[in-house]
Amino acid sequence: NNVVRLCVMGDGGVGKTAVTTQFVSNHFVHYYDPTIEDSYRKQISVGDKSYILDILDTAGQDELTAMRDQWIRSCEGFVLVYSITSRSSFDQVLHFREQIYRVLDRDDIPIMMIGNKSDLINERQVSYQEGKELSQNLGMSYMEVSAKSRSNIDEVFYEAICCVKRK
Ligand code: GTP
Repeated sequence: NNVVRLCVMGDGGVGKTAVTTQFVSNHFVHYYDPTIEDSYRKQISVGDKSYILDILDTAGQDELTAMRDQWIRSCEGFVLVYSITSRSSFDQVLHFREQIYRVLDRDDIPIMMIGNKSDLINERQVSYQEGKELSQNLGMSYMEVSAKSRSNIDEVFYEAICCVKRK
């Protein structure tokens, strides 16, 4: 089976839609339109293998989270997004991770954590080092990315596939 279903989660406004859209369609979404639930597909090759990524972009806004348990159950891998310009969104990563573990109730869940908006260096509230430490303590892959400048965007999804296939 070459379909990999990923769930993108994180606080409202951290850039989940922007990261996903930049990856799938190569453009940056400037406006902010809170997501309820959107699904995207893209075919990618990793080494000599071809995969279809089925990406679920979820709601970050708290009033839209009733669906979250269901989203979690339907996915194999998770991308947890925070914004490097928002300390509270970084703190929320732990909360999302706990929710995933509670719902799936097993070890070894492929989760990666990304700090988005790395282009906004003057507004940084979370250092690279802090992100690195948290991800290492929790056993997650980690990178800083920018949906705006398209920095590390492809890398996120390649790594996510590798995380899923490794487990
Ligand atoms: P919800 O759907 O409410 O959960 O939000 P979201 O996490 O999907 O955020 P979204 O992608 O809608 O982005 C929110 C705002 O941040 C938009 O105005 C984006 O243009 C902006 N944004 C997203 N990524 C970046 C980035 O890498 N750099 C900068 N400068 N702005 C970004």
